[in-house]
Amino acid sequence: MGSGATRAAAARSLSTSSSQSARVAVMGASGGIGQPLSLLLKLNPAVTHLNLYDIVHTPGVAADLSHCETRAVTQGFVGDDQLKASLEGAEIVVIPAGVPRKPGMTRDDLFNTNASIVANLAKAAAEVCPKAFVAIISNPVNSTVPIASEIYKKAGVYDPLRIFGVSTLDVVRANAFLGEAKGVDPADVNCPVVGGHAGITIIPLISQCSPKIELPEDKLKAMTERIQDAGTEVVKAKAGSGSATLSMAYAAARFTDSLIKATQGQSGVVECSYVASDVTEAPYFATPILLGPNGVAKNLGLGTLSPFEEGLLKAAIPELKKSIAKGVEFVNKNY
Ligand code: NAI
Repeated sequence: MGSGATRAAAARSLSTSSSQSARVAVMGASGGIGQPLSLLLKLNPAVTHLNLYDIVHTPGVAADLSHCETRAVTQGFVGDDQLKASLEGAEIVVIPAGVPRKPGMTRDDLFNTNASIVANLAKAAAEVCPKAFVAIISNPVNSTVPIASEIYKKAGVYDPLRIFGVSTLDVVRANAFLGEAKGVDPADVNCPVVGGHAGITIIPLISQCSPKIELPEDKLKAMTERIQDAGTEVVKAKAGSGSATLSMAYAAARFTDSLIKATQGQSGVVECSYVASDVTEAPYFATPILLGPNGVAKNLGLGTLSPFEEGLLKAAIPELKKSIAKGVEFVNKNY
């Protein structure tokens, strides 16, 4: 490191951040996403406490991870009896619990199994740590975020600024594909992706990409469709053994890190996320969100869309509204 002054400043910022706690609970921690996500969180120096909950295998996963020489105190919780204990003190609850797709399935085909898994986890979180940020990965995200929100409403603790659908993987994929196509380091690419997290509801805003990326019309259409179908690309390649897990774990670790930074007062933290929204007529919608200590600090909206993107938006809204209504109806009927 450089001068003494730089070293002193670095030490100060380190001691500030290390005095702050970041207590994260991962629900579904033994799964294909849950395990690598828990590893990445265990490696995040900002995480002080890591609670791993699942219906199977968490004692082993936690014992294994706890041997990494990082400071996050890692504990496993298994089964319904330990569900509430796993959420005690949590500031961020990340939910990758539920079944993934097999070839030929849409995300909506997962609804019957995953809706009740997310609802029950949300019910416990609403009771034990109602102020925690909730980051929902379980599909269909377009419906599971409304489901969790309705459960929080029924518990009387709903705060729309604190419930997030994790759509980060769509941004990560757009950045990777665009960087690759244009010979730019993907780490330097930032392409907002708005809408929802399923098929045509995934709307990459390539016209707003930084750095500016120009594609001829046919390539723009092909790139957009590749981003929309990227999950299916992985499902097909895995040939029945599941959907994206490693890239999803990376994306969720990035999103969780941004939530931690926001809770710890860092300014200018922006992530696209699927949240309660009045930006369009769909009551939940992903847009770039400025994150702050209380969750959503500001919804940065859609910006200026190209005519092509306007068309994508128009096609997405009816499907999104349908998926949202399905989630709301599920809770009204069953809880
Ligand atoms: P997986 O089947 O490998 O793991 C799921 C884990 O959830 C298992 O360990 C299982 O025991 C656990 N689980 C089941 N019921 C539970 C309950 N009631 N409480 C706690 N844990 C429970 O599945 P994978 O690949 O990890 O995917 C998880 C979810 O993430 C799926 O719904 C999948 O569709 C979704 N996903 C979302 C993405 C996104 O971009 N938001 C991307 C990729 C997957």
